[in-house]
Amino acid sequence: MSVRPIIILPDPRLRLVSEPVTAIDDDIRRLVEDMFDTMYDAPGIGLAAIQIGVPKRVVTVDLAKKDEPRAPQVFINPEILARSEETSVYEEGCLSIPDVHEDVERPARIRVRYLDLDGKPHEIEADGLLATCLQHEIDHLNGILFIDHISKLKRDRILKKFAKAAKRAAG
Ligand code: NI
Repeated sequence: MSVRPIIILPDPRLRLVSEPVTAIDDDIRRLVEDMFDTMYDAPGIGLAAIQIGVPKRVVTVDLAKKDEPRAPQVFINPEILARSEETSVYEEGCLSIPDVHEDVERPARIRVRYLDLDGKPHEIEADGLLATCLQHEIDHLNGILFIDHISKLKRDRILKKFAKAAKRAAG
């Protein structure tokens, strides 16, 4: 179990399309443990494997509030089967784009198919925060970031800021 470094914009790996998991073996179980350790340490409510540099279709989520017991959820090879026409708006952030929060409009409800850690298939209807969180994380698996859903003007400003910071860090 270990906390792994989270990759930050403009790391080009954030634009990779992640590969499906073909077998749930010890490597995947270790990856999921590390993702939870990393997500809780950050702290965040959702993480995609690519955010720790692993291009596999694995997502971890925990929407429990601070005073509630932990409620870890794992989604392997998640797939959105249907989206509602009705939308909802949440202020989103991303551990790979620190200190940026913007309103994003997405379908309010989705139907998702995924495998659990035992390789068992599930289908769920998600709404509210879970629907938004899953869409945000599944976007990561396709190389899409939440800033891709905001205005170009705002996005360009954020990209510029992070490009500058990366340049400064590289020195
Ligand atoms: Ni994110």
